[in-house]
Amino acid sequence: MKTLIIFSHTYYAQSRVNRRLLEIANLIPDVTIRNLDGLYGTDFTKIDVPEEQHLLTENSRIVFQFPVFWFSTPPMLKAYMDQVFTHGWAYGSEGHALAGKQFMVAASTGSSLEKYRKGGFTMEELLRPLMTSAAFVGMVVDRPMITYGCLDITEEGIKAACQEYRKLLTTC
Ligand SMILES: Cc1cc2nc3c(=O)[nH]c(=O)nc-3n(C[C@H](O)[C@H](O)[C@H](O)COP(=O)(O)O)c2cc1C
Repeated sequence: MKTLIIFSHTYYAQSRVNRRLLEIANLIPDVTIRNLDGLYGTDFTKIDVPEEQHLLTENSRIVFQFPVFWFSTPPMLKAYMDQVFTHGWAYGSEGHALAGKQFMVAASTGSSLEKYRKGGFTMEELLRPLMTSAAFVGMVVDRPMITYGCLDITEEGIKAACQEYRKLLTTC
């Protein structure tokens, strides 16, 4: 399935996990990657809205890949949504450009799954605003892929995450 990965990471040069996931994704035919911070830096006013909207329409599955920052998305991904998912295009009586597309989140966390459980919140709950936004514009929301415990993740853990990501991206 033609897949567009919208990726954001504020300090990609130091990334251990998302870098590897992106490298795997880059090898899969039919996958296009938009590294927002790589393309636009931190200047959200530079986001090329017509080009981003064009790419979204060209793909059947949209993946938001990011490290979790303060239980949310990095700032450029939030800015992307604010600017690209516009009224009359993504929503509103005439806005159906994203309707029917598959949507998936691939997020990484510093804390372990156990810590999230002890804290009383699941990532699925914390991702609800993002999932609700995707559903609001008519996308079909898939189960998210969460890579937990990235601060002390082992090489085996990274490899397992890469395998899972490859499987998800090659499955229709
Ligand atoms: C500003 C900031 C906020 C963060 N907030 C969270 C958080 O809310 N929950 C969490 O589990 N990890 C948090 N982290 C840790 C990152 O999610 C983690 O380091 C990242 O997912 C690892 O991926 P990487 O190897 O690609 O950098 C935060 C890190 C930074 C720098």
